[in-house]
Amino acid sequence: MAAYKYETHVYDAIVVGAGGAGLRATLGLAEQGLRTACITKVFPTRSHTVAAQGGIAASLSNMGPDHWQWHMYDTVKGSDWLGDTDAMEYLAREAPKAVYELEHYGVPFSRTEEGKIYQRPFGGHTTEFGEGPAVQRTCAAADRTGHAILHTLYGQSLKQKAEFYIEYFALDLIMSDDGQCTGVVAWKLDDGTMHVFNAKMVVLATGGYGRAYFSATSAHTCTGDGGGMVARQGLPLQDMEFVQFHPTGIYGAGCLITEGARGEGGYLTNSEGERFMERYAPTYKDLASRDVVSRCMTLEIREGRGVGPNKDHIHLNLNHLPKETLDLRLPGISESARIFAGVDLTREPIPVLPTVHYNMGGIPTNYWGEVLNPTAKNADAIVPGLMAVGEAGCASVHGANRLGSNSLIDLVVFGRAAAIKAGQVVDPNSANPTLNQSSIDACFDRFDKLRHAKGGTPTAELRLEMQKTMQADAAVFRTDKTLAEGVKKMEAVAAKMDDVHVTDRSLVWNSDLMETLELTNLMPNALATIVAAEARKESRGAHAHEDYPNRDDKEWRKHSLAFVDGTKTRLAYRPVHLDPLTTEAEGGIDLKRIAPKARVY
Ligand code: FUM
Repeated sequence: MAAYKYETHVYDAIVVGAGGAGLRATLGLAEQGLRTACITKVFPTRSHTVAAQGGIAASLSNMGPDHWQWHMYDTVKGSDWLGDTDAMEYLAREAPKAVYELEHYGVPFSRTEEGKIYQRPFGGHTTEFGEGPAVQRTCAAADRTGHAILHTLYGQSLKQKAEFYIEYFALDLIMSDDGQCTGVVAWKLDDGTMHVFNAKMVVLATGGYGRAYFSATSAHTCTGDGGGMVARQGLPLQDMEFVQFHPTGIYGAGCLITEGARGEGGYLTNSEGERFMERYAPTYKDLASRDVVSRCMTLEIREGRGVGPNKDHIHLNLNHLPKETLDLRLPGISESARIFAGVDLTREPIPVLPTVHYNMGGIPTNYWGEVLNPTAKNADAIVPGLMAVGEAGCASVHGANRLGSNSLIDLVVFGRAAAIKAGQVVDPNSANPTLNQSSIDACFDRFDKLRHAKGGTPTAELRLEMQKTMQADAAVFRTDKTLAEGVKKMEAVAAKMDDVHVTDRSLVWNSDLMETLELTNLMPNALATIVAAEARKESRGAHAHEDYPNRDDKEWRKHSLAFVDGTKTRLAYRPVHLDPLTTEAEGGIDLKRIAPKARVY
């Protein structure tokens, strides 16, 4: 057994991760007087939320008529009828409140002439239950909305005396023998010390796992750490086959060019200079849902109408927009286009390509953020002491495809909901749960084994192999053949974890070891993704299966659950929640409005 000394810290609640969801949960917990700590592997304002550009969806009606029910309808349709109805209602109903709270906390939103929060159009957001024109629902702080939110929430959390453990890498959950989460073990990166955090509630807000792919808009820190920790406890990951490709990653670099660019009037063209989206989505054109736009771009390229010497990308045109609009509304992407594509967007189009951007799947939760561990008797059974929010979680509000700007609102609505729920279930006057020493020892054993790993495969080599496999075989379009090959390849790649080689054995700023630990988190996320994708014999949302081009609600309107153990993945399923929170008589949506139908834009 590996012997590591550690310091123990005791709190009512621990949040792991300091992005938008983590900080909103931290703030909400601390505001209620709970002793709250936030553990984060990067400085809070460097969390990936800082890169969110276009905005945050809420039916404020600042630019024209809007309604929470229209937002809910768009979210249901965007999810391709896989989202949980209660969670989607909660999101759309709570969104305006959550945005006004942000405003009052100090988020510097862009403004209209009358001083209201500025809102722009985004893909898939419409009026009149999809019958009316596109709506301006996405509240923006220029094209740096995530940056503005993150800085504000960090400041507010400090004001509420939340404590931050910065550059601490969470290694594993501490679980009791009867399945309650009682804390986490973390490694302090800058001095190599070990820390045990004991809490009555642990909230995982560790973000997505975009870095399981070769080309992603996600930061290099997006390594699915929460999913990895959960999988190691034998708990499931949900709907992992649904991986979102953002239509406009900069060709080559992969950096994001916000959908707000199309919201402000930008459009896509092929090698013939044709605005091809008019052909595929006659009503909403370039503002169709992102899975649709990404597929259309891929088809254009496949059919030989891509641009560039290799005809392998598409042009995004903004040069017809007034310079003042670009300066006021899109300053960030003007800079990104210049730096990463060498393009002056007042004069030239930006070369773009669909790029991995978001994971709809994650740790299954209810709409309060409580983690689910479905049993035969209870599909909604919860794991006591454990919550997950933000991209790490799967509420499931985005189902098979997320609408743009529904991510930032997910972060704050469900970060806030988790804090509210924790405030109800955590008694600040009760004793903390007892820590299970064998769970802590198992964590140190795993850590020590990796620290001294002497195999023949460097971490970077293995990570690249995983990323290339996922990129090729769990792509925008999938087939039985590519997926079956991909599963085999990924199982072989995962098996090589036993042969990994770590060069640096020290404990202080050991980035080699940290990247290896991150790889052990990416691996179960990647396996769950490709195995669940291989099993799902239909097309739905971001899962475009060429051998099964239609959605099959009879067989497949259900959530997949993947249990990953080493190289092996077992699948199970749980039903989609079809009931809303409120009936029509109580002011809720008419269920006929959201009955499944063909998804056209
Ligand atoms: O395009 C964007 O600005 C991205 C927004 C989102 O993913 O919600």
